[in-house]
Amino acid sequence: MSNSLVINADLKEGKINKNIYGHFAEHLGRCIYEGIWVGEESEIPNTNGIRNDVLQALKNLNIPVLRWPGGCFADEYHWKDGVGPREKRKRMVNTHWGGVVENNHFGTHEFMMLCDMLGAEPYICGNVGSGTVQEMAEWVEYMTFDGESPMADWRRQNGREEPWKLQFFGVGNENWGCGGNMRPQYYADLYRRYQTYARDYGDNKLFKIAGGANIDDYHWTEVLMREAAPFMDGLSLHYYTIPGDFWKGKGSAVDFTADEWDTTLRKALYMEELITKHGTIMDKYDPDKRIGLIIDEWGTWFDVEPGTNPGYLFQQNTIRDALVAGVTLNIFNNHQDRIQMANIAQTVNVLQAMVLTEGAQMILTPTYHVFDMYKKHQDAEKLSINLNSDSIATSDQQVYQQVSASASISEEGEVLVTLCNLDQEKQAPLHLTVRGMSFAKVNGRILTANEPNARNTFEQPDSIKPEEFTQFQQDEDMLHVDLPSKSIVSLTIK
Ligand code: AHR
Repeated sequence: MSNSLVINADLKEGKINKNIYGHFAEHLGRCIYEGIWVGEESEIPNTNGIRNDVLQALKNLNIPVLRWPGGCFADEYHWKDGVGPREKRKRMVNTHWGGVVENNHFGTHEFMMLCDMLGAEPYICGNVGSGTVQEMAEWVEYMTFDGESPMADWRRQNGREEPWKLQFFGVGNENWGCGGNMRPQYYADLYRRYQTYARDYGDNKLFKIAGGANIDDYHWTEVLMREAAPFMDGLSLHYYTIPGDFWKGKGSAVDFTADEWDTTLRKALYMEELITKHGTIMDKYDPDKRIGLIIDEWGTWFDVEPGTNPGYLFQQNTIRDALVAGVTLNIFNNHQDRIQMANIAQTVNVLQAMVLTEGAQMILTPTYHVFDMYKKHQDAEKLSINLNSDSIATSDQQVYQQVSASASISEEGEVLVTLCNLDQEKQAPLHLTVRGMSFAKVNGRILTANEPNARNTFEQPDSIKPEEFTQFQQDEDMLHVDLPSKSIVSLTIK
């Protein structure tokens, strides 16, 4: 038994859209408030209210696009409450997430400032569930109109002279659920109507994203594509990796068995089937692949950390999460022909976060390091690969692949290969052949851990971090690589 990978360096298959490496930040728990926004008066060092440590960490990831304000929050959010002098902004109840007071201090201006600071494109999700067509139309006018109009004038009064550039605009979120419990035919009609009035002002061209299916609801995708394809640029899909049952117990983020490890990774790999099947339906109506599949919520979802507010969705993050991120991003890279964007949920302190904060402290999660190790795939050309992987057998007679891989080549001709060994115990010897280029130099990085639930904590913030990887030998155009158990490895070849 052995694993083999052939990388065809002369077979470029198209660009890996950098927006696949996108993120999602909702008004949920301590994601926006505390995690990102602390306010100008805070003792936590900040720039215009945005905490500096989180900003720096996120900047290092080259976040291409950031989705906001929800999630479920989006279909209850009324944007006008979040502009103008902060002390006068309405206080409301965040009914979806913990029933806490939302003071609206982080609104459109603050979000656009954050995106500017990060160098990320904003992706705004509008309110269909409880908002009007007029409200959505006026938000677009407020943000993007350059001339004289009630909304553009109001934006100027609120301190922003120039319109912002806004490309990505979502017309509702999970409209089959928290976004209005709609049936697909009804939402398809509402989508057509709402998007009509989300105008392109001046040279601002919106990329309109329709609310897509939950997991394997292929009927939803079929109806949306059949009824509304000409009116959309993207169609979303939401899929979370949950080892247990969503309602009865999702499973612990840190205290899990070997079987739960297997279930989690098997369920993460299910993303491949979902993309293929939703993609096949999209191909029927859009054979040229104009419309992007936008996986704007994905990641692990476990039971909340014991003792924390159940509505805050705070969970720890282990090497298991890092592997879920690693295999999922490899799947996305390999399906770059249809996937134009993906947004992991969520950036700070919620679900599969990049960073966790506690007061003035911040730690980087293992998932953060995966995004760092993979970031050079952004906008690189995907390379054709042939992977043969051994299988891992689970105690309930299932099997899943041991090795996951993807490869890209930069404009400078540098190949990046990202590899995961999903096995908890066994290493994975891999014969890696690079065809179509001669190379002299290989550099490796590895993220791994001794224990399956290893994680970074506020006491030990650097237990898991990338190290140099040298367990490979070069033999002409072949590399013999030994991937340790539960590891993510990146190789740059030039
Ligand atoms: O990310 C948490 C929630 O999951 C989002 O608000 C919602 O869209 C999804 O159900």
